[in-house]
Amino acid sequence: MQDPEFVQSAFAKIAGRYVVTNHALSFGTDILWRRKVARLVRDLGPETLLDLATGSGDLAAEILKVAPGIRLTGADFCAPMLDRARARQMPGVTLLVADAMRLPFADGTFDCVTVAFGLRNMASWPEALRSMLRVLRPGGHLVILDFSLPSLPVIRPLYGFYLNRVLPLIAGLLTGERGAYQYLAGSIHQFPSGKAMGELLESCGFVEPVARPLSFGIATVYTAKRPDGCGT
Ligand SMILES: C[S@@+](CC[C@H](N)C(=O)[O-])C[C@H]1O[C@@H](n2cnc3c(N)ncnc32)[C@H](O)[C@@H]1O
Repeated sequence: MQDPEFVQSAFAKIAGRYVVTNHALSFGTDILWRRKVARLVRDLGPETLLDLATGSGDLAAEILKVAPGIRLTGADFCAPMLDRARARQMPGVTLLVADAMRLPFADGTFDCVTVAFGLRNMASWPEALRSMLRVLRPGGHLVILDFSLPSLPVIRPLYGFYLNRVLPLIAGLLTGERGAYQYLAGSIHQFPSGKAMGELLESCGFVEPVARPLSFGIATVYTAKRPDGCGT
């Protein structure tokens, strides 16, 4: 759970270098993770989709590549990040500044809500998840992509060293904003993953939570559904 003013201003400061820094820090793996999520979303077959915390539109663009017919809305509360998404000129996509906690959509508007590397940065995870549940139609799908901590005993300490020491250093050099990336490491440690995320999703009203670890668990894709025919 994060301070929204800090998050908004941190992303505003790094917006111009966000995409290139991501690819450098993950050695391009973030592109593969979003591709995987885009294919998973396509297979769920939604006609309408909200990409929440869309930021620079990286996930939205991948989804449109594999499912060009989707009516996609991207929302983010940081205008400079959305400017990057606008620069991609994604045809038919609606982009708007909106806070996940106060989504300006009627109940049950979307078949699918996606959120990549966004939920972790929100002020209240349960509040944000309930808001996503509200705008999903009954039976609609939530797809979350976010960082997690590897469970393998050999990988975990190595990754911890990279995350806490190496990453803020390199990112600081690339963006001049080392603090934003020290925050990133801290936020990953706090964020629930695996079974804990499943329990959080269920406590917010979602059903059928599934966790699919990626790259030894450095990231995880979570899916869950709004129950059929429920009110929120
Ligand atoms: C790490 S970026 C992710 C961008 C994009 N989804 C991606 O895959 O690269 C996180 C984004 O979450 C947005 N964000 C954080 N809290 C938010 C909130 N409460 N409402 C809307 N957007 C939020 C930030 O502004 C930022 O653009």
